[in-house]
Amino acid sequence: MCGIVGYIGTQEAYPILIKGLKRLEYRGYDSAGVALLNHSNELNVYKAKGKVADLEYSVASKDTSGTIGIAHTRWATHGEPNDANAHPHYSQSSNLALIHNGIIENYMVIKQELLRNEYEFKSSTDTEVLVHFIEYIKETNNVDLCRAVQIAMGEVVGAYAIAILDKNNPDQIIAARKSSPLVIGIGEDEFFLASDATPIIEYTDKVIYIKDEEIAVINRGCPIKILNMTDIEQTPEIKTLEMNLSQLEKGGYPHFMIKEINEQPQTIVDCIRGRVSVEAMDVILSGVLDHKDKFLNAKRIIIVACGTSWHAALIGEHLIEDLCRIPVEVEYASEFRYRNPVLNKEDIVIAISQSGETADTLAAVELAKASGAFIYGICNVVGSSIARATDAGSYIHVGPEIGVASTKAFTGQVTVLSMLALTIAKERKTIEKELYVSLINELAAIPEKMKKVLEKNEIIKDLSKIFTYAHNFIYLGRGYNYPAALEGALKLKEISYIHAEGYPAAEMKHGPIALIDTEMPVVAIATTDRIYEKTISNIQEIKARKGRVIALVTEGDDVVCNIADYCIEVPKTLEYFAPLISAIPLQLLAYYIAVNKGCNVDQPRNLAKSVTVE
Ligand code: F6R
Repeated sequence: MCGIVGYIGTQEAYPILIKGLKRLEYRGYDSAGVALLNHSNELNVYKAKGKVADLEYSVASKDTSGTIGIAHTRWATHGEPNDANAHPHYSQSSNLALIHNGIIENYMVIKQELLRNEYEFKSSTDTEVLVHFIEYIKETNNVDLCRAVQIAMGEVVGAYAIAILDKNNPDQIIAARKSSPLVIGIGEDEFFLASDATPIIEYTDKVIYIKDEEIAVINRGCPIKILNMTDIEQTPEIKTLEMNLSQLEKGGYPHFMIKEINEQPQTIVDCIRGRVSVEAMDVILSGVLDHKDKFLNAKRIIIVACGTSWHAALIGEHLIEDLCRIPVEVEYASEFRYRNPVLNKEDIVIAISQSGETADTLAAVELAKASGAFIYGICNVVGSSIARATDAGSYIHVGPEIGVASTKAFTGQVTVLSMLALTIAKERKTIEKELYVSLINELAAIPEKMKKVLEKNEIIKDLSKIFTYAHNFIYLGRGYNYPAALEGALKLKEISYIHAEGYPAAEMKHGPIALIDTEMPVVAIATTDRIYEKTISNIQEIKARKGRVIALVTEGDDVVCNIADYCIEVPKTLEYFAPLISAIPLQLLAYYIAVNKGCNVDQPRNLAKSVTVE
């Protein structure tokens, strides 16, 4: 989703802005642009449809000088991706240039008012309406830019993170946010501005996360000033970043996605470090233990999330109900926020989000908060909006996930949910000591088992060649592996553009079995668990209709391998943790099929890493 970068300081801004935009490419975008105030105080705006490299190419012979600038990658919402709709947008007088991440919902009403005042529009965007509106307020109220932004923000409805340059004030950037992320990096006599910390980390580890409805006034050579919408100065909270630059590079892999798939044995070690102890035979998830009473008294847990995080939530439902005997409901955050849900003070709402910025999940958190429920966050990005909006939580600690398709975040989320369920189960005394011990041992063994799965890389790569040109896929699983089947199908469809559906295996005969023929590959997750025998019957049903079955089985399972057309063997684990193992071959299969098809694996079409609009 849109990315914002800004710079003010002593260095040339353009190379820093371009590098910053490239660091944000993973968020997904369709056009890019930059605004620079040169040494003669001319405000130059350059924009191009396509990649950041297209922008660089188009400005090759232009004036890109200046030590202050803002830049943007756009993910189209209002108006198609083209040069005109790309950001930055000039104001009517061309004195202001603005970039924006988010949506201004009442832009049509504002536009009508501006049209009545003879404003002209060069794009179809809500962003151009916003910059004209700010200038209109500035002129009609005779106020400075900061005050004009405050007044405008009081009138616009929606989500935004914005940054503005003013030709008449060449030593200042004004930035503001509501619901969309914005981080400011503090260097020596210089400031960096970005949608997340990735463009900032190579210059400084000191950052300020701008809060909702705050305005940052960044003046060259002065301390930063943060104001709220009513002009009251706020004390900035300076944080130290923990990520490092090497975590943002591909490390010799051709794509971030395959790097991140291969990182999983290590990311699970990082996720359970200091939390799971085989020596003490204990799990200590401090976020839960610090709020033990809430979890002891919980009547119900509702988990809200989107996409892959929603699939992790479904596994969380199994884990918590199985081990803690607390009823769990899993909701799409986008549905939950608009359906007037019944919430009580004894409810716990868990929000799962890799980015911590997903607009629907954040809105679901705000809604649940208003009802008085206790809100627990499971996020990856430290300091993200959801992490800050929740009452307590646990980070998954898997490091920056750059590939748009979520991989290591999924297994990290499932691992945190496993630790959460074990911690609550122990406190509520709903788990037998023997099971508790064997689950701790097994969780600690998962990274080594993941390494064994990754050794199947070449087998899966070869298999991918057979199915590269399939048009449809079905993924089947039962119990804990049903969400894994959904996740496998999502991975395939989002990066290879092959239609794929996940189903609970037994549900097949209620409709989808009509699709089965020799052309339909079926990925069946049939690792040994409570309902293994039933899954075998479901595979037989597919084979009886000449479906082609790729089965994921536990090592040494000749029974399924004799029925299926192709087999991928994975190490045995307890069924509670089955998705941690099953997810990896499915990620690899999707990855190699997409690579064979020549797809842009890390930045699939139409997708964004951080979905900051609803
Ligand atoms: C799929 C994928 C998306 C995200 C979804 C939620 O690979 O990445 O489905 O899982 O957009 O994002 P977060 O977890 O950041 O809230």
